[in-house]
Amino acid sequence: MKITKICCIGAGYVGGPTMAVIAQKCPNIQVTVVDLNEQRIKDWNDPDTNNIPIYEPGLSEIVAEARGRNLFFSTEVEKAIDEAQVIFISVNTPTKTYGKGKGMAADLKYIELCARQIAKVAKENKIVVEKSTLPVRTAEAIKSILDNTGNGVQFQILSNPEFLAEGTAVTDLLNPDRILIGGDSTPEGEEAINALVDVYANWVSRDKILTTNVWSSELSKLTANAFLAQRISSINAMSELCEKTGADVSEVAKAIGMDSRIGSKFLKASVGFGGSCFQKDILNLVYIAKSYGLTEVADYWEQVIIMNDYQKRRFSNKIVQTLYNTVADKKITFLGWAFKKDTNDTRESAAIYVADDLINEQATIAVFDPKVSRDKMLNDLNYLQTRSVEDNNSKVVAFNDAYDACKGAHAVAILTEWDEFTAYDWQEIYDSMHKPAFLFDGRNILNSKEMESIGFIYKGIGS
Ligand code: UDX
Ligand code: ADP
Repeated sequence: MKITKICCIGAGYVGGPTMAVIAQKCPNIQVTVVDLNEQRIKDWNDPDTNNIPIYEPGLSEIVAEARGRNLFFSTEVEKAIDEAQVIFISVNTPTKTYGKGKGMAADLKYIELCARQIAKVAKENKIVVEKSTLPVRTAEAIKSILDNTGNGVQFQILSNPEFLAEGTAVTDLLNPDRILIGGDSTPEGEEAINALVDVYANWVSRDKILTTNVWSSELSKLTANAFLAQRISSINAMSELCEKTGADVSEVAKAIGMDSRIGSKFLKASVGFGGSCFQKDILNLVYIAKSYGLTEVADYWEQVIIMNDYQKRRFSNKIVQTLYNTVADKKITFLGWAFKKDTNDTRESAAIYVADDLINEQATIAVFDPKVSRDKMLNDLNYLQTRSVEDNNSKVVAFNDAYDACKGAHAVAILTEWDEFTAYDWQEIYDSMHKPAFLFDGRNILNSKEMESIGFIYKGIGS
């Protein structure tokens, strides 16, 4: 079977970049990305590709090359499903905010809706690919919906988890460490797997394309994210011990990272990990473990989240304590709001929680982020439902310029490691601030000695 038409449901951080790269690398395949959100599709179709709704280095160039040739963005979900041989499901699966599994299980309502829509529309056999991070055994649910509500056509369900990290999505997609495809070991299942392998083989060498059963594939995604997040929580746990004892966590990280068994990646102590995957996936893992009665397994992984929450709180507490135990009516400037550099995504960003704590202490928060709008910041805070929308409105001021944001501030806190922050004229920032001027570096991107020589009272993480 040769694939010539692909449809992807969901034009978000995963679906958008992934389909753009598939379209660029497979000019003979027509790729249509659909979404219910009309504004989002309109933005993807903006004549100026610098205005596409997702910021990722290198993405706008790829969209400029492929869009209109074999890459299309549309709101006509049913038409795209009908025409495609392969349908990727790339819709969001947030943590449930209600009912059974609240705060832990993944909310599968968007997935179920997609499955029902595919079942309704499909008049020929289709391959359905799970791309979103899903709890183990979701494929089974999708299959059951498709088989029981469909028009009698055959569906093959594949799990093809996405390992791209935001901010490096394009390079991750172009040079993946591996591609994972899970499917049934029946002849039809194998045919579907091979068809998808052939798509990726257009630019990924075959020895990097792994095929497994569906459950292994689904669980591998959760496991990879749990292991990565665990490394951050482990080094963050050491960061507090370093602060108390006079060790420097960056030195410790370097020393252990050179051990080839440990390796150097994902050992940066920080104000805490964020993003749409780590917390959600671990909570999912915990929920699955609990539902099988595996209390110790669940508790083990839950501790990764507990440590991460603690690290965020510890950072806001440190700000309050250092500022003489009160930040009421003080101006605290945040540099960065995104959960990491080179993305405009803010989901679960540490900045949200640190801001929330400081607003509880009646501070005013001035924010500058090169890619995040004030509306998004306020949405993030309002989502926590800690206080009224009006109160958040009056406590958060967004700036288009970092120097303006820092003027008259009592403290500056770095929440995101944007490269441009290290290139700032920190003397100028210091001179414009209230004295004593405090600098809290939640990402350890500045040189402590240099900042202290300017006059700042500097506090990093873990030293
Ligand atoms: C992650 C996984 O890396 C990716 O494979 C998966 O598909 C989705 O989840 P992402 O959330 O985009 O990707 O970003 P990632 O680079 O993993 O960073 C997650 C968070 O951890 C960020 O807030 C980042 O700042 C933080 N982090 C990362 C640290 O605090 N220290 C580190 O050493 C590394
Ligand atoms: P991710 O990071 O997983 O890509 P996003 O929230 O960025 O998550 O993107 C998911 C997209 O899926 C959103 O743009 C949302 O509008 C879209 N979506 C959700 N449910 C459906 C559906 N049933 N049909 C089409 N699009 C959907």
